[in-house]
Amino acid sequence: MTSVFLIGFMGSGKSSWGPRLARELGLPFRDLDQWIEEESGKSPAQWFEQEGQPAFRVKEHEALLQQLEAPAQVLALGGGTPCFGDHMALLNEHGITVYLQLPVEMLITRLQANTGQRPLLKGKSNAEIAAFVKELMKERERFYEQAHICCDAVSMKGQKVKALAEKIRNYSR
Ligand code: S3P
Repeated sequence: MTSVFLIGFMGSGKSSWGPRLARELGLPFRDLDQWIEEESGKSPAQWFEQEGQPAFRVKEHEALLQQLEAPAQVLALGGGTPCFGDHMALLNEHGITVYLQLPVEMLITRLQANTGQRPLLKGKSNAEIAAFVKELMKERERFYEQAHICCDAVSMKGQKVKALAEKIRNYSR
């Protein structure tokens, strides 16, 4: 079994459903943002705040290259990871890419309800979040759509994760 790379916009459920998917597939789970934090001592929010987004993207690139060489795992990526440099091509070469797809309106509602620690949304009003997410999704969708498997992530639940795991297993045969 090769690695599975979970991609999708902020708030699409990569970090929430990734561990469950990994269990179904019998693989370890890792979250790239969390790994960056463990390894560098700075969360993505702190990278953005203290070093700026370009420095975060360099760090993210290095972290991704390291993780591409790791033993098979389910790796949840940041929302922006597949959209920089040649990342999408690299991901597709090194494993099975899965896009957790949600309608943009649903992402907006989720992100307005909980911006979490997301530096890209910090300080934005609900109206600003809506406009920002729509614009960013327009730029990013063409990367996400290059994934091997596109998973409709509306009303995700245990059964859907099981079905997704089956699809991934069939894909890798
Ligand atoms: C980002 C998404 C975040 C994190 C960073 C940048 C993005 O990850 O990597 O804040 O550019 O969309 P999540 O998708 O897990 O929120």
